[in-house]
Amino acid sequence: PPYSVGYFIGSLASASINRQLAGALVKLAPAELEMREIPIRDLPLYSYDYDDDYPEVARSFKQAIADVDAVLFVTPEYNRSIPGALKNAIDWASRPYGENAFTGKPSAVIGGSIGAIGTAVAQQNLRSVLSFCNSPQMNAPEAYIQITPGLIADDGMITNEGTETFLRDWMGDFLTFITRVLTVVPQR
Ligand code: FNR
Repeated sequence: PPYSVGYFIGSLASASINRQLAGALVKLAPAELEMREIPIRDLPLYSYDYDDDYPEVARSFKQAIADVDAVLFVTPEYNRSIPGALKNAIDWASRPYGENAFTGKPSAVIGGSIGAIGTAVAQQNLRSVLSFCNSPQMNAPEAYIQITPGLIADDGMITNEGTETFLRDWMGDFLTFITRVLTVVPQR
């Protein structure tokens, strides 16, 4: 495929509804996008004490970001923000100073919650973080997904036709956005 997309799942929970959502998005992605997860689970808690000598796990994490054309964040909302594990991963990726892995890397954010707010507040927080990390973000359409029981089947299929169409179109819009960013602005 023309573009690779690394996706981060903000939740570490084994039954994560956001992991289910990510699985559905992989199925709905246009053929032009090659989707691969960039795991965040094994990263230690970041401190700048590591900056002089990043551990192997953090080096390979940053390399995984360098290796993809774009990044996608699929995240829950924990206490009106993103989970600490995801923030920790972003902090690792952003350092050492001058080696921020997100610079110029197109991104999109999406998330699912049980409640109707659909991770809206967490996504706004994440957008601030990504702005500081100099990642060009797809501003619209936004996607706040309420994940009701049965919405996503075990095989990753979306059981509601309107939601399925919305998510397929959203992934198509992300492809358009990635194409626009990477063809207009040379990557560095
Ligand atoms: C939550 N949940 C939650 N939901 C929400 O809409 N806004 C919030 O601020 C919070 N805060 C929150 C904090 C913590 C610590 C937990 C564990 C949960 C509920 C949340 O939407 C629900 O647990 C989802 O299942 C989380 O997504 P994952 O982890 O299953 O992908």
